[in-house]
Amino acid sequence: MKAFIVYCHPSENSFTRNMRDAFIKGVEDSGNEVILSDLYKMDFKADMTEAEYLRDANYRNTPDVAEDVFAEQEKINQSDAIVFIYPVFWTEAPAKLVGWFDRVWTYGFAYGEKTMKVLDKGMVLCSAGNPIARLKEFGLLESMEKVMFGDRLFGRVKETEFVVFDCTSRENELREKNWDANLQKAYEKGKGLFG
Ligand SMILES: Cc1cc2nc3c(=O)[nH]c(=O)nc-3n(C[C@H](O)[C@H](O)[C@H](O)COP(=O)(O)O)c2cc1C
Repeated sequence: MKAFIVYCHPSENSFTRNMRDAFIKGVEDSGNEVILSDLYKMDFKADMTEAEYLRDANYRNTPDVAEDVFAEQEKINQSDAIVFIYPVFWTEAPAKLVGWFDRVWTYGFAYGEKTMKVLDKGMVLCSAGNPIARLKEFGLLESMEKVMFGDRLFGRVKETEFVVFDCTSRENELREKNWDANLQKAYEKGKGLFG
């Protein structure tokens, strides 16, 4: 089985990068394959052109999608699961990943006469500075999940799982204290991705 990982973090010196690598090791140790899009490393262009906007807004199949967008769509259709790995920025994914959805979820692929494969699993692994209790208290965790699974992945994956690694801000002593246990958890999530 193949897992397509869409990873977005501006720095290699981060918890999220370590968490990503632990997750990938888990997937590979379970005998499965990974396709990785590292959006910063690829310098993925996040903003739509006017032509792209007009194509999608008018429900048109023309012009053909850009090559970098087509490459991402091909990776999806070759995979069995899609996994998003990122740090929470202002209760969202980093802007580059939000822009990835703007451009890759095109008319004729993700909506309209869809050609996007319905994947077995959609997973989010994100790191957050806040404790989960605080994200829940203000309804923020629910909002993040709703946007990812109730909109972006809705009807496009059969099963969903949202995993938050909380208290990961650099000033929080729990970042270091929970580091190894969190990487172990990410590894196990990778190992168990395909059941
Ligand atoms: C621009 C920015 C916005 C952030 N917004 C949030 C937020 O809305 N909620 C939250 O819990 N943490 C927020 N954080 C904290 C990051 O999620 C946290 O620093 C990160 O997950 C730590 O992991 P890293 O070492 O991989 O960067 C923000 C951090 C930055 C830099």
